[in-house]
Amino acid sequence: MSSTATTSNNDDRLLRVGILGCASIAKKNAIAILQESSGCCVTAVASRTLEKANAFVHDFLAPRVLKSAAAEIVCLGGSSAYDDLVQSSVVDAVYIPLPTTLHKEWVLKALQAGKHVLLEKPVAVSAEEFQEMIEAAKVHHKYLQDGTMFVHHPRTRDFIQTVNDTSVMGNLDNLRMEAGFSFCGDDGFFQNNVRVRKDCDLFGCLGDLAWYVLRMALLVVVGGQQDGQTGVNTSAQVVDYKLNDDGVPIDATMLVKFKEVHKTLSFHCGFQTQFRQYLHIAGTKRWAFMDDFVLPKAHPVNFKVQSMSLTEFDLVTEHPTETKEFEGPVQEVLMWQTFARLSRAIDNTPQGWAGDTNECQEARTLSQTSCATQHLLDALMASIRGGGSKVMLCLMLPGFAASSNDSSEQW
Ligand SMILES: NC(=O)c1ccc[n+]([C@@H]2O[C@H](COP(=O)([O-])OP(=O)(O)OC[C@H]3O[C@@H](n4cnc5c(N)ncnc54)[C@H](OP(=O)(O)O)[C@@H]3O)[C@@H](O)[C@H]2O)c1
Repeated sequence: MSSTATTSNNDDRLLRVGILGCASIAKKNAIAILQESSGCCVTAVASRTLEKANAFVHDFLAPRVLKSAAAEIVCLGGSSAYDDLVQSSVVDAVYIPLPTTLHKEWVLKALQAGKHVLLEKPVAVSAEEFQEMIEAAKVHHKYLQDGTMFVHHPRTRDFIQTVNDTSVMGNLDNLRMEAGFSFCGDDGFFQNNVRVRKDCDLFGCLGDLAWYVLRMALLVVVGGQQDGQTGVNTSAQVVDYKLNDDGVPIDATMLVKFKEVHKTLSFHCGFQTQFRQYLHIAGTKRWAFMDDFVLPKAHPVNFKVQSMSLTEFDLVTEHPTETKEFEGPVQEVLMWQTFARLSRAIDNTPQGWAGDTNECQEARTLSQTSCATQHLLDALMASIRGGGSKVMLCLMLPGFAASSNDSSEQW
C-alpha cells in the first residue's frame, strides 16, 4: 500500500534517503535531512502501517520541508513496505532506525539492492555481525555509516586534539576519562520501549547510552596514537549492574582500561538516574569538560578547560577557565553531510572502499571505529554474563597495526 505527498525537497545533487520505520529518532534525523546543507533529501518513508507512514510524511514532514525543487515523498505501509522501500528507484540510501536485532537483515537487503546505509547505534548484536555488514558494503561498493552524531561536529575534533595536547593537559601517561550518561525512564518506558526489550535492543542502557561514551573514548585513544602503534590491549568490566526481568541491562557502572596508550575510562550509564551527559578528562595539568557531550545545549556549543590548585591551609585557587565555542550547523546535519559526501565518494571511486582518496580513507576509519565500539560493547556484555568479570580484548583501531595480542595478561 502506498500514497505520496508533494513537497519541495528534491534536487539531483542531493542524496535521496528512504526512512525504514517511523521511529522516534527518525523525526530528529528527518528534520536534519531537510536542512539546506545536509546534502540529502527524504524521498520515501516506510512503516509496518500505512497510517503511521502517512502521519509521518503528511503531518510531520510536509509542513517542514525547506528545500527548493518540488518532489514527492512516497509513503509505504504494510507487511511489504520495508522491502518496497529498499527496492525503490527513488531511493539512493536507506536510514535504518530499527531495533538492533533487525539491523543485519535490513542492512544486507539494502546493500544488496544497491543502497547506501545510515544505521542507528548500537550497530549490531555483535561485532562479528557488524563486520559481516561492512564486508557486504565493500562487495556492493556502497557506504555504511553509523548514526553517532557528535563524531561529525568540529567541537568533538577540537576536544580530542585538546585532550591529547601535552602543552594543555600535561603528562598524558595516566589520562583519566570519566563520564555519566543517564535518564530516568517512566513506567511506560520500562513497559514498552524497544530499548528495554531483549527481542529488540538486548544491550539496554549499554547500547543506548554507553555506546556514546565508548565511541568518544575511542576517538580520544585514536587521537593520541603514535604512528606504527600496535593494536591496543584493553580490559572491560562492568563493576556493578542491574538487569530487568528480561535480562536487559538498565543500569551499569563500568571500567575500561587501554593498556599501551595509558588511558582509563570509568563511567555510569542507566535508565534510573536523572538526565545527565557529562565527560570529564584529566591530565596532570588540567581537565577538559563537557556537560552536554551527546546532545548539545543551544548554540554556540562549547567545552571548557580548567584547573584548580591548593594554596597554604588548603585554600582552593581556581585558575582561569578557557571556554571554546563553536557555531555552525547542528551535529545531525553535519552527520548527513558526511554521509552524503562519503556515499558519493564511494560511488565515484572505481575501487569503492579500497580507493586511495581521502574520502575512502575517512570511510574506512569511521567504520573501523564503529566496529571497535561494538567490540567494547560486546566485551561489557560478556562481563555482565560473567557476573562482572574483567574481559580482555585487543582492539584494532584506525592507524594501529596488527598486535601481538597479550590479552591473557591481567593488568
Ligand atoms: N542516534 C541517536 O541519538 C539515537 C537516539 C535514540 C535512539 N537511537 C536508536 O535508534 C533505534 C530506534 O530507537 P527509537 O527510540 O527511535 O525506537 P522506536 O520509536 O520504538 O522506533 C523503532 C521503530 O522500528 C520499527 N519496528 C520494526 N519492527 C519492530 C518491532 N518488532 N518492534 C518495535 N519496533 C519495530 C517501528 O517502525 P514502524 O512501526 O513504523 O514500522 C518503530 O517505530 C534504537 O536502536 C536506538 O538505540 C538512536
